[in-house]
Amino acid sequence: MDPILAIAKKHNLKVLEDACQSHGAMYKGRKVGSLGDIGTFSLNNFKNLCGGEGGLFTTDSEEYLDKGVLVRCFGDEVDEVSKRRVYNASILGYMYRNQELPAALTRGQLLHLDERNDVRIANANYLTEELSKIPGVIPPYCPPDCKHVYFMYNVRFDPKAAGVDADPRRFRIAVEKALYKEGMLVGQWQTMPVPAQDLFQSKLGYGGSSYPWVVNEAKGIHYNYDPNQFPVAQMLCDTYTVVHGIHAPNGRPLMDKILAAFHKVFGNLDEALAHADDAIYPGADGKLYGAA
Ligand SMILES: Cc1ncc(COP(=O)(O)O)c(C=O)c1O
Repeated sequence: MDPILAIAKKHNLKVLEDACQSHGAMYKGRKVGSLGDIGTFSLNNFKNLCGGEGGLFTTDSEEYLDKGVLVRCFGDEVDEVSKRRVYNASILGYMYRNQELPAALTRGQLLHLDERNDVRIANANYLTEELSKIPGVIPPYCPPDCKHVYFMYNVRFDPKAAGVDADPRRFRIAVEKALYKEGMLVGQWQTMPVPAQDLFQSKLGYGGSSYPWVVNEAKGIHYNYDPNQFPVAQMLCDTYTVVHGIHAPNGRPLMDKILAAFHKVFGNLDEALAHADDAIYPGADGKLYGAA
């Protein structure tokens, strides 16, 4: 964030933080969501702080708070005395109103956020310490001046370090499937760099009009969404998997089972690779994300 904030300062830009996966995380002693001009958090069903659905908007600025309130409800102005909508939209807004029940649930959950984050961190640290001993497994890294709250615990695989001559993507799929057969819930979320998604490749936009891209293209600004420009993102997509189960109330017994599965699979990688094409698609909803 420091380099981002420095660029923003230099060019007089505002910084909006997407902290949707990091409730309670810290950067150099400061909570995420308080680093930029505006912070946002998701409260969806499986986030560290859950309200069912909805989100949070954080800012230190009265001006941005007022703008946020407008955007939240159709851009409708609010009467200063009665605080009621006056049904006069002054800016483009949306229907982003949260409901009282999810808000009440969130406030209740907030009381437990720190203790539940501590469970995630303890489980993650234990896995990281043990998994780093297995050649070819790359656990997540958290810089010493930061606090990671492990919304997801992602590991990467390096076939070369594991002593195997295999394509990294195929290796990851083989290991995922083998871990699944050991009873583990693993799999991917994001499978490609964002610009590789169909929307950006087709630039169809609203109603097939190519809006909003046409606005800038008419000014001579062109977008290059060639995924080959993002080799690092592609490499990360090819080689990572999510290890589920580090959340509370899970603890050492489950972490030890996860480690036993890793040891078994990495103890016989030839077997895992021989089954890389098996028609199994495990995961929370019966799919092994990213395997297809
Ligand atoms: C990084 C990130 N940003 C934004 C969002 C969107 O949050 P929501 O689904 O609550 O709108 C998510 C949700 O998963 C997210 O992970």
